This record gives sequence, C-alpha cells and structure tokens, in this order.
Amino acid sequence: MQHLPSKGYYCKNKHHFDLAKEGYLNLLPAQHKNSKEPGDSRAMMRARRNFLEAGFYQPMAKALTVMIDKYRADNRPMHILDVGCGEGYYSRQIEEHAQHSEQLDLHGIDIAKNAIFAAAKKQPNARFVVASSKSMPYADQFFDLLFRVYAPSNDKEITRLLKPKGLLLTVTPGPRHLWQLKEFIYKEVKEHPVEVLLPEGFEKIDSQRVSYTIQPDQEQRMALLQMTPFAWRAKGDAQNKIQRSNGLEIETDFILTLAVKNN
Ligand SMILES: C[S@@+](CC[C@H](N)C(=O)[O-])C[C@H]1O[C@@H](n2cnc3c(N)ncnc32)[C@H](O)[C@@H]1O
Repeated sequence: MQHLPSKGYYCKNKHHFDLAKEGYLNLLPAQHKNSKEPGDSRAMMRARRNFLEAGFYQPMAKALTVMIDKYRADNRPMHILDVGCGEGYYSRQIEEHAQHSEQLDLHGIDIAKNAIFAAAKKQPNARFVVASSKSMPYADQFFDLLFRVYAPSNDKEITRLLKPKGLLLTVTPGPRHLWQLKEFIYKEVKEHPVEVLLPEGFEKIDSQRVSYTIQPDQEQRMALLQMTPFAWRAKGDAQNKIQRSNGLEIETDFILTLAVKNN
C-alpha cells in the first residue's frame, strides 16, 4: 500500500482508499464483513476503554513497554504493530512511557471500526487501520515487533509481516487471572493453562508473569466482566452478586511471552 500525502492510499491494483478525518483507514469493505458490526461492539469497546483508562491494567502495560525497551538495542527506531488493538490503549501507553518513543512508528489494526475510530482520535501520532488480522494491509517484513493482547491473530500473517529476527510479544491470561470473578460463575474454578502457542519458526526468548489485585467499583466490575470471554455465562444472579459484593478484590494475572522469528 502506497501513501500519497493528503490523498489517502493506493493499493497495488491502483484502488484508492481515503483517510477518515480522524486519520484512520478503513480497509474492510462492506462485502467482506461477516456481520453488521464485526469485532467488539461499541458498548464493549466503551466498557473496556473506561476500565483501561482507570488504570487497572497499567502495571501490565508498563511491563509490556519495559520489555520492548529491553530488547530494543540503542533505542533504535522500530516499526511496531498492535494486532487486535481495540481502542489503542497499549499504543498510547507505549508512546507515553517507552524510551525515545518519538523513534517508534506505532500501528494498530482491528476489525471493529468503532474501536479504530476511538484509537485514531486519541493518538494522532499512530496509524490505525480497520481490517482483519487474517489479511493485514502491510508489506512483507515491514515490522520489527508485533504484539497482541488477548486478541485473535493469524500465524501466516505474523510470519509474513515480521522482519527476520523480528519480535512477537504476546499477552495471555495467567493461571489465576480474574479468579474471584470466576468464582461467582463457575462451580469449580480451574487454573488457566499457561502454554502459549507460537507460530512455527519462532523461539521463545523471554517471559514474565505480572500479577496483582485490583478493587474496581461496581460499574467497573461490570465493565471488566464484559471484557471477559465468560461474560455470557454470568446470568442475572451471578451478575447481581458480582455487582453488589462489597469491596471485592480481584486477582489479575498476565503472562508476557516474547519470541523471535528465526529467519
Ligand atoms: C479482547 S479484545 C482485546 C483488545 C485489545 N488488545 C485490548 O487488550 O484492549 C479483542 C479485539 O480483537 C478484535 N478482533 C476480533 N476479531 C478480529 C479479527 N479477525 N481481526 C482483527 N481484530 C479482531 C476485536 O474487535 C477486539 O477489539
């Protein structure tokens, strides 16, 4: 995809794509949508944004930024992509907290237009695209680092987009993530498996477990519940109990896994 200043983008077949006035690019044409509102809904996006902006996952975002800094030799410039970026919270955290972040070229992709709209509005220095992670509109081997936080991705595309020796940083739930929320929902809570599936040809070089407790208020607890894959299981009674429980403390538990592409 070629960028023509102020004129949007052209693909190699000479199709033209306008930049929205918020600065993002929509590359998910109506005929490629499987539903009217693909990805997370506007309500889910809002709930997640309010929860994240309250800082509950900031320690994990900080660990993510520190890991990027640690493997970035001499603060060199890097092209970085957040796959399934939602409303761009982690890109903003990286821009705010990474060393010499002005040298970072930050990109985000998500299938949910409402999320990309919000991300682009909040971070004019980063570039956001509405597209599927199954087919990402970037040149081969363009990125130095890809990261994915609780988001679906595609091994073939990750391998295609990363440079040789490029880095893949994955955040997944640790064994006790949101344990106390799950206790309201499941008869018997089981620890989350820690194994992270890496694309072929990638080797794990670092990992870190980040765990701490949070104490969200009633509304924030409901937002957190909405962000989980088990929200649909929380029927009326469990939801009421979660909402009403006084001063509920909830464990968070994250595993950050850094892998390198072998060639
Ligand atoms: C659990 S959310 C995580 C969002 C963000 N990484 C965060 O942690 O705040 C998963 C995200 O993946 C997006 N998504 C789902 N399917 C996708 C696909 N095929 N391509 C790109 N994004 C997708 C959703 O719209 C949603 O924003």
